Amino acid sequence: MAKEINTIGVLTSGGDAPGMNAAIRAVVREAIAKGKKVKGIKRGYAGLLQEEIIDMETKDVSDIIQRGGTILQTARCMEFTTPEGQQKGAEICRKHGIDGVIVIGGDGSFKGAQKLAGLGINTIGLPGTIDLDIACTEYTIGFDTAVNTAMEAIDKVRDTSTSHERCSIIEVMGRGAGYIALWCGIANGAEDILLPEKYDYDEQKLVNHIIENRKKGKQHHIIVNAEGIGHSASMAKRIEAATGVETRATILGHMQRGGNPTCKDRVYASTMGALAVDLLCAGKSNRVVGYRHGDFVDFDIDEALAMTKEIPEYQYEISKNLSL
Ligand code: ADP
Ligand code: F6P
Repeated sequence: MAKEINTIGVLTSGGDAPGMNAAIRAVVREAIAKGKKVKGIKRGYAGLLQEEIIDMETKDVSDIIQRGGTILQTARCMEFTTPEGQQKGAEICRKHGIDGVIVIGGDGSFKGAQKLAGLGINTIGLPGTIDLDIACTEYTIGFDTAVNTAMEAIDKVRDTSTSHERCSIIEVMGRGAGYIALWCGIANGAEDILLPEKYDYDEQKLVNHIIENRKKGKQHHIIVNAEGIGHSASMAKRIEAATGVETRATILGHMQRGGNPTCKDRVYASTMGALAVDLLCAGKSNRVVGYRHGDFVDFDIDEALAMTKEIPEYQYEISKNLSL
């Protein structure tokens, strides 16, 4: 028989992402609407192990849907990667009467949720990361806001790049994944898009491309470089020396993680937050919520973690033609 859920815990873990607050709000309000109690666990698994656990009522999540960051705060916690840490976490959940936990984070955070589920605490994961690097889902909370923030910043760099007839290398986040770089590269009309999944480290090709474009009369040359490749500053020096074209590097950094979530992030995060509660209420555990082919769906965490996803080949190929 499915375990009855009376009290739901919610935590955010790993890097924060715009829309996490919308998800927290949805969890709290959907749970209360279903007659459940909610406890907020602060600072991810670190806060769980320190028993930083607070009661949450509907009013505690008012005025947050539009805010970036996470009101519960977030952390990375080594102790929770150990069996002892996980056992302690499950015992603390039981001590506080928490029957089910909703974990908002990335693959690392889902591994923690998987371990808690194995120790008898029902868990549901929500994909929260700006990187879009979760294989089971086409959408992650925060990606849409992050790419819009980066896109606006790159537009601004492009203005000055054109005025000075420079080459600009703009580095975007994404950890080992190139999704933010690909989207910005297309949205900003970048002349070159460097993705960790695709880059062959042949700088001579970039040099030739810049020289060709100069001959065609292009006044700027935008290279969107993914964090997974990095080294934008030294790349800029080498490219300037090889082309004779003034080259500057801009690393956008953590600005991409902040700011008010877009409409899409608010709506999708809200839907996923409510769905996570409904899954727990239906007795489900060890599941992760995703978005695929136009539907909000859920997968077994073990299966979700075993999935892989690639950079969309067609979009990557056409991006080269679009900046001719
Ligand atoms: P993300 O969730 O964004 O992938 P991390 O990989 O930093 O971010 O993971 C966030 C946290 O999840 C870690 O600090 C740790 O507390 C927990 N975690 C990561 N891997 C494991 C694991 N194998 N077992 C248990 N917990 C884990
Ligand atoms: O996972 C989100 C992310 O912003 C990545 O894009 C980046 O590699 C990483 O987190 C940065 O982490 P930190 O905030 O610890 O520097």
